[in-house]
Amino acid sequence: MGSPEKNIPTIFAAFGATGDLMRRKVLPALFHLHKQNELPKMFKVVGFSRREWTDADFQKYVREVVEEHAKKKLPDDELDPFLSLFKFQRGEFSDSSSYEGLKNTFDTCDKAWGVCSNKLLYLSVAPEYYEVILNEFAKAGLGEPCAPGEGWNHIIVEKPFGIDLQTAKQVDELLGKLFKEDQIYRIDHYLAKEMLQNILTFRFSNNLFELAWGRELIESVHIRVLEKIGVEKRGPFYDGVGAFRDVGQNHLLQMLALIAMEHPESFEATAIQKKRAEILEALEIIPDTQMTTATFRAQYDGYRTIQGVAPNSDTETYFKVRATIDSSKWKGVPFIMESGKRLGSPLKEIVVTFRHPSPCLCPPNQPHHKNEVIFRMEPREEILIEFWSKQPGFTFETARREFSYMHRAETEHVPYVEEYGKLLLDCVRGDQSLFISTEEIRAMWRFTDPILAAWSAGIVPLATYAPDSPEVLEKAAAIA
Ligand code: BG6
Repeated sequence: MGSPEKNIPTIFAAFGATGDLMRRKVLPALFHLHKQNELPKMFKVVGFSRREWTDADFQKYVREVVEEHAKKKLPDDELDPFLSLFKFQRGEFSDSSSYEGLKNTFDTCDKAWGVCSNKLLYLSVAPEYYEVILNEFAKAGLGEPCAPGEGWNHIIVEKPFGIDLQTAKQVDELLGKLFKEDQIYRIDHYLAKEMLQNILTFRFSNNLFELAWGRELIESVHIRVLEKIGVEKRGPFYDGVGAFRDVGQNHLLQMLALIAMEHPESFEATAIQKKRAEILEALEIIPDTQMTTATFRAQYDGYRTIQGVAPNSDTETYFKVRATIDSSKWKGVPFIMESGKRLGSPLKEIVVTFRHPSPCLCPPNQPHHKNEVIFRMEPREEILIEFWSKQPGFTFETARREFSYMHRAETEHVPYVEEYGKLLLDCVRGDQSLFISTEEIRAMWRFTDPILAAWSAGIVPLATYAPDSPEVLEKAAAIA
């Protein structure tokens, strides 16, 4: 027996097959799944791109990418079976005959397998190409399964899902012409992170904290994605986006949703997505009058000299935002979201701080550390519970201690490979729980748009910070 997805014949068609996402994330993840024997027995990847390539050229490229990722040469007997899964379709996005070619490739595979396979259409291209690709795709009859009730067609899209609420709606309208909501898989790789999935397990598979999970006992939640890396070679992309659009509008808001969401009716995708969406829809919009006290933005020195960045750019590479939720459970509890690049050591975590018990059996004349539950992704994947304990001995003194659970060693996680592997397998299975619904996208933009508008209107001045140091965290300390 193997896992059921192994028996789901699937063709993965990648538009933008030679692009950055395929190279850094998708191809290494596919190779990992192949090595783990997790791919369906009947599986093909068809790369669509305008290069003048043959199947052999594409396979050579895939070999280079996989070896670059593995940081070593791999023997033919290990790579060849994987490379044989790859086919190439040369084409222009706007050329109808290229899509005929794609259809022929699909038909040839299906014929050889004697089935009508499922098709996964992966759009690893800038959103401005969606319209032409989807229209041509539909024109070539690729939007329909090859037989009624047999084989499905799903589409996978990557962020950015628009650049604001209005453009996000436009992207959705486009996708909606050809696909229904249950066929659209919007990737946020943070949802596939072990520790973030573990939040739901920790909260809903135990009964330790759930009754305390809310404004009565929780004082604040601090979500941090502090990166060591900088913008690297992504200047042209990043400068038009900024830190809040890049990770705040999506990854950090999803982290907030996982902490604050209510117990779902089941662990079905739609039930989970619904509960995440309810929280995101309840986020209180920050009025302009509170922008300077609720948000902070900064740029690291030297950012403007990066290739592709405007010399007078005021794009933020760091932000801190205080969000609140309009619900009886969370009213008044600050959810502090903070993220930035070049901040020295990486720290990615969510800290849930509890209120003092009253009266508090606290050490006299000492600052009392409040109880915390910490879900940490970096530098180690762990859950920590900070508490007070009596010091051994004759006196009644207390000391801060922690329970810690290490989920797994650092070396067991290869960035992106695991997340994308999980996401791709879920696409094959048709499970949408780790993907974002249109309601969530809209709610996230509704919260984000006023912040970005206030920032671009200069309501919140752009601070600067020395790279590779946590200096800016101090500067932003007032947002708490
Ligand atoms: C991506 C952003 O979505 O997430 C990057 O575009 C960021 O700028 C990355 O570095 C962070 O993801 P991870 O998995 O490295 O924490």
